[in-house]
Amino acid sequence: MTNRRDFLQSAGLAALAGAVPLTYVRLAFAKPEQDFNFAYISDSHIQHIKGTQFVRNWDRGLIRAVAETNLLDPKPDFVIYGGDLAQLGTKEELDHGAELLSKLKYKTYMAMGEHDYYLDLGEYWSKLFGKHWYSFDHKGVHFVVLNSILTFDDWTFKRWPTAKQRMAEMAGIDNPNGSPFMVGAKQREWLKNDLAKVAKSTPIVVVSHSPLQKIYKGWNFWTEDAEEMQALLKPFDSVNVLYGHVHQIQYNQIGSIAFNSAMATAWPWPYPATYAQVDSHLPVLTVPMNRADPFFERDATGWQFINLHSGRNDLHYNLYNNQSRVIAFNPKTGRPEDMKFQDASARIEPQTHY
Ligand SMILES: [Fe+2]
Ligand SMILES: [Fe+2]
Repeated sequence: MTNRRDFLQSAGLAALAGAVPLTYVRLAFAKPEQDFNFAYISDSHIQHIKGTQFVRNWDRGLIRAVAETNLLDPKPDFVIYGGDLAQLGTKEELDHGAELLSKLKYKTYMAMGEHDYYLDLGEYWSKLFGKHWYSFDHKGVHFVVLNSILTFDDWTFKRWPTAKQRMAEMAGIDNPNGSPFMVGAKQREWLKNDLAKVAKSTPIVVVSHSPLQKIYKGWNFWTEDAEEMQALLKPFDSVNVLYGHVHQIQYNQIGSIAFNSAMATAWPWPYPATYAQVDSHLPVLTVPMNRADPFFERDATGWQFINLHSGRNDLHYNLYNNQSRVIAFNPKTGRPEDMKFQDASARIEPQTHY
């Protein structure tokens, strides 16, 4: 325990230097000497304007995340990039994003986002980064990286006059012409075979751009085959699904499967309830975050620490211009809770004036 506390204190001090748009993950085992760390960067939305011009703020978010990752102490074993590197999937955006990522000093595993995919269905992305889905093992943990943003063939093919329009239709958040994401039968079959070789006691970390939960269909915070995916993961003692896409903090636990989202380096989305003024469709265990300044694109970017221990998480969030939060498993209630703001009377309500 001392070991873990020391780690959090030293990392917490580093966070005081500024808001850092990356997630730092520590996988904590029963024996601390087995612990290791990796960094998770997501949703940079590198956006081409013209010629050599790109949207500066999105560039800055990724540049900063890369620089801070290179300074992390203790060092991460590797980096995972969670998808939406580009805004509209163009060669210029993907090349520029790849160039910024190339400054990382660590091996980087890439996942596909819908903004990377729907222009050419991942063709150029593959040239730069390789396979759309794969798995690897690291120090006793089985990692699975998915392309979870696929959708129905009748939406993807022969529906739109141009590939550019298809990309634009999928890029909007509040867009009735979009289509729900899914992992799809082919990849589920691959995953079934991949997991058949893994002992049930082996910790599993799944990297997925979309949530692998059905959260809010109106914004595509959604995975159509979430139930099938959860059924494949359920037999394992400890599963952690890390996802991007939602540009905000979410967490949930379904049986042995823990779900955590990573924040974006580009901009934060508000929670659906604060924006659409409808009932919250967030996972039941999510505590609404209070965005101190919704017009500041760096608000709600920050750090997370995820300690996995017997399949349970502690999440340590440092929010820019906002109060830090700790989400930890409460053995009394049998679920993860916000240690300070779980109780409704202590909660800082999200803004409602959008
Ligand atoms: Fe995104
Ligand atoms: Fe996305």
